[in-house]
Amino acid sequence: MFKILTKKIMVPSIKLFEIEAPLVARKALPGQFVILRIDEHGERIPLTIFDYDRARGTVFIIFQEVGKSTMQLGAMEEGDLLLDLVGPLGLPMKEERDKKIVCVGGGVGVAPVFLKARSLYENKNYVISIIGARTKNLLILEEEMRQVSHEIYITTDDGSYGRHGFVTEALKEVLEKNRPDLVLAVGPVMMMRACSEVTRPYGVETLVSLNSIMVDGTGMCGCCRVMVDGKVRFTCSDGPVFDGHLVDFKELMSRQNRFLEEERIASERFIQMCRKIERCDN
Ligand code: NAD
Ligand code: FES
Repeated sequence: MFKILTKKIMVPSIKLFEIEAPLVARKALPGQFVILRIDEHGERIPLTIFDYDRARGTVFIIFQEVGKSTMQLGAMEEGDLLLDLVGPLGLPMKEERDKKIVCVGGGVGVAPVFLKARSLYENKNYVISIIGARTKNLLILEEEMRQVSHEIYITTDDGSYGRHGFVTEALKEVLEKNRPDLVLAVGPVMMMRACSEVTRPYGVETLVSLNSIMVDGTGMCGCCRVMVDGKVRFTCSDGPVFDGHLVDFKELMSRQNRFLEEERIASERFIQMCRKIERCDN
């Protein structure tokens, strides 16, 4: 069992947990993820490691409540126990040194970018960060990203904070004035595809971190299959980081949407159950 030591509500739908998991904390590296289960009936939830504290033996995750399982996770409190947490999974991100690197994080995707940006910053790369959200109240980790960036651009889709527009618009500007060696983009699939298309004409290597649907997380079930450069790859064991110019985003999007109806039904049932419990408690 894995204890939740700290819970922080970043914005109403995005939460941070610090979880006691000494063996995972000891080995975790930027780019890797964990898969957790709340209880024996629980779905396996893959989440990027936001940070770790080897001395305390803890890992930090940040997640958005988007469906039944993440809503149930978000309802857990400090002191509660998760049934299991497996990791670190996936390949760590390749180390870089003395390069000019743009780190793009969209929405809750800023969380998986943070650890990579910090590691790049510590390894003497020049880090330009671009973080964006739909609106000011949904922007996360601004201060943390500032501390690991030499330059930072902030965007909101509605213009309520920072620059008005998508992260891709700031990325275009950076490419024009300050050609980087590498771009790393993490966020919704549409955003990662758009970033890869923006950098393609400039010939700048672009890495994306995919969040495919997963089951085992070790390359055995085939659930997280993705086409990269015309070849089948598994996000969990060959990734999650891939060359964005080679990913078949159209296929990825159709695979991501396969269980939308089931997810909708499960979320509705969960909300109804919570309402019943609330009525009984009152
Ligand atoms: P969102 O829809 O609010 O988008 C966040 C930002 O991404 C926007 O502010 C915008 O700047 C940019 N963006 C979105 N669509 C774009 C487009 N078509 N073109 C250019 N830029 C675009 O994101 P959210 O609600 O915070 O994130 C939810 C999604 O992120 C879910 O689908 C989730 O699965 C995914 N996600 C991915 C990862 C990962 O590791 N890749 C991690 C966490 C969440
Ligand atoms: Fe099963 Fe990747 S999750 S192969």
